[in-house]
Amino acid sequence: MPIKVTLRNPKALGRRLAGVAGVALASTAYWVGAQAPPRPSSGKDIFRFDTFGNETFWTDTLRLHETISKAVDPTTALSVGLKVDADALPPGILKTADLKSPATTVALLKLNAVVGVKGTVVSKDGKDVLTRVGITCALCHSTVDDSVMPGIGRRLDGRPNMTLNPGAIIALSPALDAAKKAVYNSWGPGKYDPRFNHDGKNGPVVIPPAFGLAGVRQATYTGDGDITYWNTYVAVTQMGGQGTFKEPRLGIAVQAKGADLVQPKLRALREYQHSLAKPAPAAGSFDAAAATRGRTLFAGSGKCATCHSGTAFTDEKLHAPAETGMDPAYAARSASKKYRATPLRALWQHPPYFHDGKAANLAAVVDHYDATLELKLSAEQKKDLVEYLKSI
Ligand code: HEC
Ligand code: HEC
Repeated sequence: MPIKVTLRNPKALGRRLAGVAGVALASTAYWVGAQAPPRPSSGKDIFRFDTFGNETFWTDTLRLHETISKAVDPTTALSVGLKVDADALPPGILKTADLKSPATTVALLKLNAVVGVKGTVVSKDGKDVLTRVGITCALCHSTVDDSVMPGIGRRLDGRPNMTLNPGAIIALSPALDAAKKAVYNSWGPGKYDPRFNHDGKNGPVVIPPAFGLAGVRQATYTGDGDITYWNTYVAVTQMGGQGTFKEPRLGIAVQAKGADLVQPKLRALREYQHSLAKPAPAAGSFDAAAATRGRTLFAGSGKCATCHSGTAFTDEKLHAPAETGMDPAYAARSASKKYRATPLRALWQHPPYFHDGKAANLAAVVDHYDATLELKLSAEQKKDLVEYLKSI
């Protein structure tokens, strides 16, 4: 039974879709066959569409293609935070699509319209069948602008998908036992644990933005290595891509089975990430006069700039957890055992804050530091500091 979808701005959608229809249909043809023609692998394409061959994990091991085909209708997919790329949709499709049918999800995958999920759909006896599924970096590090409806809009690369529930998605796999499913289901939206599959400990961290990292040398909350180190780590050990990654400090050694599908793409991938600038705060979203006072506090009696220094707001140093009153558990599981002074970038865009998300908003961040660093800020000063944090 087709259900009616209420569009926020159907006219604008019609205009936009009319403009992109040709492109969308062309890319439809592209994704139908199992044999994809060679495509130029720009860093953007890699970030958005490359699975590095991880279908072996998401399909052969986790068998998620079965679950998607049987049980994941678009309403369910949207409810676990998956996003739909409006630019990949042919005109009018949402008006007639049955958002309660898994077949519609398969149709969206055939259009390559599900952000960060790549499906291979083949025609069997006149029916579209999902045979392979894999994931890309965009799954966690992109979202959409919700311009069509919540969850459907234009891609915003680099913004963390804070409504995505990666644990709940993995837990859909029929191949996992109840104990593992319970752990995955405990993470909640906007969080993922990139170490659980190595050490078996459960402590998910907030998905960070992938923008605003140009000029930052150390990647991740714990600064285990540079961006390429981490890109390789994730592509190989988390996404299940075909590549080689070794980390003697954590006893990890994965050797590519067959050709390395990660290494040749790392340079372009890094360049694309570094091209993603932090988004500016919306006009009027903070009090400019208060922010100016807050800036003085940030650099002065608030002591923030001792660690959040330079244009990227990081001293590039690693700090013992106790130095800033952080829970040491996640650092203890990392290679560095410490926390990097996070490069502060478009903070307004991605609450909650700190690696474990323990500060729900910027006021909670300031309260945390006021207590830990014994700053004794007045209520007015705290407000000013928050206005400044909204502006950077
Ligand atoms: C399942 C969700 C998920 C996917 C898919 C994913 N990431 Fe991440 N990413 C995370 C989480 C969570 C962290 C935080 C880990 C940490 O810092 O310890 C992270 C951290 C990062 C960072 C560090 C950001 C910083 O502040 O220094 C970069 C860079 C990054 N990811 C790039 C990528 C790339 C490139 C891909 C694809 C090859 C990718 N990620 C795929 C969840 C994901
Ligand atoms: C001693 C060094 C140090 C000082 C001083 C310091 N920070 Fe931090 N900051 C850190 C570290 C380390 C982290 C990462 C902690 C984590 O993720 O758990 C961090 C994280 C943050 C975050 C979270 C960013 C995100 O994206 O999650 C914010 C916001 C922040 N600091 C603001 C401030 C403000 C405001 C001050 C001054 C009141 C301040 N910091 C003082 C080291 C410091």
